[in-house]
Amino acid sequence: MKISIIGSGHVGLTTGICFAEKGHEVLCVDHDNDKLARLRNGEVWFYEPKLPELLKKHHANKRLRFTDSTSEAVKFSQAVFICVGTPTGDSGKADMRFVEKVARDIAETITDYRLIVEKSTVPIMTGERVKATIRRYVKGDAHFDVASNPEFLREGSAIDDTLKPDRIVIGVDSAKAETLLREVYAPFEAPMIVTSIGSAELIKHASNSFLALKISFINWIARVCEASGADVHEVARGMGLDARIGPHFLNPGIGYGGSCFPKDVEALAAIAEELDVEAALIRQISQINREQRERFFDAIQQELWVLQDKTLAIWGLSFKPNTDDLREAPSVALAQKLIKAGAKLRVHDPVAMPAFKKVVPEAYFARDPLDATSGADALLVCTEWPQYREIDLAKVKATLRVPLIFDGRNCLDRTRAEELGMTLIGIGKQRIGPQTKR
Ligand code: UGA
Repeated sequence: MKISIIGSGHVGLTTGICFAEKGHEVLCVDHDNDKLARLRNGEVWFYEPKLPELLKKHHANKRLRFTDSTSEAVKFSQAVFICVGTPTGDSGKADMRFVEKVARDIAETITDYRLIVEKSTVPIMTGERVKATIRRYVKGDAHFDVASNPEFLREGSAIDDTLKPDRIVIGVDSAKAETLLREVYAPFEAPMIVTSIGSAELIKHASNSFLALKISFINWIARVCEASGADVHEVARGMGLDARIGPHFLNPGIGYGGSCFPKDVEALAAIAEELDVEAALIRQISQINREQRERFFDAIQQELWVLQDKTLAIWGLSFKPNTDDLREAPSVALAQKLIKAGAKLRVHDPVAMPAFKKVVPEAYFARDPLDATSGADALLVCTEWPQYREIDLAKVKATLRVPLIFDGRNCLDRTRAEELGMTLIGIGKQRIGPQTKR
């Protein structure tokens, strides 16, 4: 089947490539000519495992092509997926200007039936707005349907998540739209649920907010653990074995980041309040997440007393492993605060250092994790890259000036740290090492 994708960012590109992998013929649009040139060359400008290989494969077999023309894409296929960005705008609401512009561009081109599918994460009722916009600008009486088909891919495992999704959600209000979307997803093996457009839109925001709620909940429990002497991993395991709760997304840490949870939680609260639904629960998710970052900084300051002229190593800069994405990454604000307080930073990340250099150029960019810890007064872990877990802490101890670690992702070996006489401060865990007198 022929499919068009408008917007070749993380979601659009991954979706287009996976549709090609499933045998469809795909035309992707982007207005950034620099990005298009790179894509046509088989290059991706962000780090995402498996994506470059599949891009090259389907570019070579011509199942995946790129253009800067929305009208060419609309003429190319019956199903047009909108995958443009919906950044946070004023007062936390999603900024819909890119979606609205695409709706107008589509309207100006269609002459016969088209199915317009929203894949970007959009507030509930966007489908209605897209429909009204197309109707307003369309020439003549060309028929079209609007549908919602939210995506649930995670950065770092985007290809696997898209090729083997837990579920496919399609929100439709016509039989023709449902038939076409069933055809699009026929090669995928996953349960499909068919809903109204509004429900599909809300499923996406509700799912992301619920996952963020789980993270903020366990981070709050971690505080109770720190205060009471309980251990957050024991608590999370005990909770997670209850099938109604489940073990996932109960890892405490210095808070969630990325381009989705922070934005989507705020957007859900904003939509609810606009609809006169009180949203204190949802607002609290973001509040706990913000505090989690502040508490990490406070713990470092409390321990080191004076930050001026301290040398601090940071391991992990991206908002999570397997990506170079720094959007809402806890490392960025932390580094900026530490530098402001007079500290010198030695940072390391397997892939995110070039991006970090643009936002925190003052840092020293280390060759490897042990170059980062060399001569440092403490090590701060912000992202749980697997290579950090595997490093022998004896080597880390040998390079540090002071054997002190703040493990913001609870990913290092606590038993080994204890054997080596190091001080290890985690999240929701009892401190290893001597207590500093307050
Ligand atoms: C998230 C959702 O998981 C996807 O289903 C969704 O499609 C996507 O947003 C989106 O809306 O596009 P993503 O932001 O890529 O995906 O990454 P996650 O793996 O969900 O992690 C988000 C953040 O939560 C990271 O900062 C991670 O470190 C943090 N996290 C995750 C925790 O702090 N604890 C956990 O237990 C799990």
